[in-house]
Amino acid sequence: MARIVGGLCTSHVPLLGRVIDSGRTGEPYWQPIFEGYEPTREWLKSVNPDVLIVIYNDHANGFNFKYTPTFAIGCANEFNPADEGNGPRPVPIVQGHSRLAWHMTESLVHDQFDMTIMNEMDVDHGLTVPLSLVCGQPAAWPFRVIPICVNVIQYPQPSAQRCYALGKAIRRAVESFDEDLNVVIAGTGGMSHQIHGARSGLINQTFDNYFLDKLVTSPEELAGIPLVEYVREVGAEGMEIIMWLTMRGALDDRVDVMHRFYHVPAMNTAVGNLVLENAKAQ
Ligand code: DHB
Ligand code: FE
Repeated sequence: MARIVGGLCTSHVPLLGRVIDSGRTGEPYWQPIFEGYEPTREWLKSVNPDVLIVIYNDHANGFNFKYTPTFAIGCANEFNPADEGNGPRPVPIVQGHSRLAWHMTESLVHDQFDMTIMNEMDVDHGLTVPLSLVCGQPAAWPFRVIPICVNVIQYPQPSAQRCYALGKAIRRAVESFDEDLNVVIAGTGGMSHQIHGARSGLINQTFDNYFLDKLVTSPEELAGIPLVEYVREVGAEGMEIIMWLTMRGALDDRVDVMHRFYHVPAMNTAVGNLVLENAKAQ
């Protein structure tokens, strides 16, 4: 049986990808951010998963506005980094796990989540920057990846509650797969930021830290928050943190915190990272 052995969530700030790609992680402005991810990199190495399921959003790079699936799952064998305007990032091609992805698709659809099946999909910074943050710059990513793309940019988006329920359905899907696989689930996006309009530059440390606290202890409380309140608190773009609830939904009610990191600012954005495992003592 496949099993989910841990979860992580992280911001996916595109600029952090550029800093990594241009070899500038040691610069004084950036160094504390990359240092903050070091325990996560160590944890992931020690867990050594076969598959990483990544809940992320596209930013009109891999998709355009011709089609906007609410929930899409990558069933292909590989996914190329998207061209976001300056050419694709110089990172390895993402290797998928087609057999598990197809099994998950069947399980999720039968579990009332009408996933869009993606046989071809380019993945943007929402997925590739988290991989760089938690793996560094390997010649090949050290695990298979199943991308699950959530529409959080085109209104109407799915609710936080729905994202949380998706996590629970993902767990049922993984645990009904017949192969012996260790799976880690990741949620990306956030934390607070708004990159357009009058509130551009918004950062809300109080809400971000409340969100990090409650994601551990009472995710149902966060799942009950209406989207408009997320937009008010963390910005129109920052509301993408609802995808962290999908990761959380796939874990037990009680979890242990393996690592927690929060940093402001990364230019115009708050950066957060949390690593969770199911609680050892129930
Ligand atoms: C930016 C873009 C993002 O998608 C994000 O999550 C954070 C910041 C940006 O363009 O600065
Ligand atoms: Fe984003």
